[in-house]
Amino acid sequence: MLLETKNVRKEYRIGSEVIQALRGVTFGVNAGDFVIINGPSGSGKTTLLNLIACIDRPTEGEVFIEEQPVSKLSSSKLAETRRDKIGLVFQSFNLIPVLSAYENIEYPLLLQSASRSERRQKVMKLLDEVGLTTMAHRRPDELSGGQKQRIALARALVTEPRIILADEPTANLDSETAKTVMGIMKRLNTEHSAAFIIVTHDRMINEYAKKIVSIRDGQLLDGNNSASP
Ligand SMILES: Nc1ncnc2c1ncn2[C@@H]1O[C@H](COP(=O)(O)OP(=O)(O)OP(=O)(O)O)[C@@H](O)[C@H]1O
Ligand SMILES: [Mg+2]
Repeated sequence: MLLETKNVRKEYRIGSEVIQALRGVTFGVNAGDFVIINGPSGSGKTTLLNLIACIDRPTEGEVFIEEQPVSKLSSSKLAETRRDKIGLVFQSFNLIPVLSAYENIEYPLLLQSASRSERRQKVMKLLDEVGLTTMAHRRPDELSGGQKQRIALARALVTEPRIILADEPTANLDSETAKTVMGIMKRLNTEHSAAFIIVTHDRMINEYAKKIVSIRDGQLLDGNNSASP
């Protein structure tokens, strides 16, 4: 299995207050899956993504990425796992404002010390795949919301990670643009055989899912707490 969480708990402490953000979450994702995680505000969606993304560690339980238990990794190995195996897409795009679309997509490859020619070839391919070759030189503030999210998708995929995590990727888009972006994600899911895990409130998006997971109050609802076959 590409990714698994086993009985993951996450507590946050603010002074003497303890918040149980995740109360034992067990689920699994296979290579090439397209999973939608649904749940109301405060139910633990971002907390769960942060654990899968190796941005944070569980209080209890374990996250496995390609069968490797994440809690055993040093901080530098954890950062390496995040860099090489995971692509992230955010609600607010998180592009670097002073860089062009091209340079934003190129950035993760610089962190991997890829050669200039390799970078160029990969960035041009992704720009083509998201249909924005002609926008390569534009800065984020010269792009529409949908175009920004397509650049962010290209950036997430350029290092060829096996897992793409997206937190409310369509929340800042109108419904037509959201459909376009979801259509592109679905196509990229197939073409790159990367697993997509997408958090959303938007019911429209459910129709794109191969698998839907619902979370309430830090727990998965019955019927989706098992690993997919
Ligand atoms: N850093 C933090 N410190 C303390 N409590 C936190 C922290 N981050 C999240 N929480 C709490 O943990 C719970 C889950 O939060 P989380 O951000 O995972 O929810 P969410 O499902 O992503 O919500 P939304 O849809 O609003 O983004 C909430 O009760 C929240 O207040
Ligand atoms: Mg959230």
